Amino acid sequence: MIEKTLAIIKPDAVKKNVIGEIIGMITKAGFRILGMKYTRINKEQAGSFYEVHKERPFYNDLVDYMSSGPIVPIALEKENAIEDYRKLIGSTDPAQAEEGTVRKLYGESKSYNAVHGSDSVENGIIEIGFFFSKSELVLCD
Ligand code: CMP
Repeated sequence: MIEKTLAIIKPDAVKKNVIGEIIGMITKAGFRILGMKYTRINKEQAGSFYEVHKERPFYNDLVDYMSSGPIVPIALEKENAIEDYRKLIGSTDPAQAEEGTVRKLYGESKSYNAVHGSDSVENGIIEIGFFFSKSELVLCD
């Protein structure tokens, strides 16, 4: 099934100047880019994006971090996109991530883990809608 997922290159990876490397890994893995922007979100927006984690102990730090600098949200499409993208980026904790994954290569810690990926088909659609209006998504065929 063709699925959509939202990738975000997070502030730590943007600061490391590895936007190009990460986009290269994503496109070489066969994902199609439907939309992409270089932007920054404020605390309120970050809080709303990660609302599902509101009760977790790391929520406030996550909100501070995600609003601390520029990010690159990317709307992606591919057969089996949710699972394939999560394989490409590796475990939440870069120390546990497989060799060659984005988080192993560029993540620092569970908090500063270089990239985000949607965890389900439903959330992929919701999260893409958070950053992109319909007219900003490019349909190739
Ligand atoms: P992400 O894929 O963006 O989805 C939720 C984020 O919460 C996750 O990546 C991490 O950045 C962060 N996160 C998840 N678990 C922890 C944790 N145990 N400690 C700190 N941050 C976490």
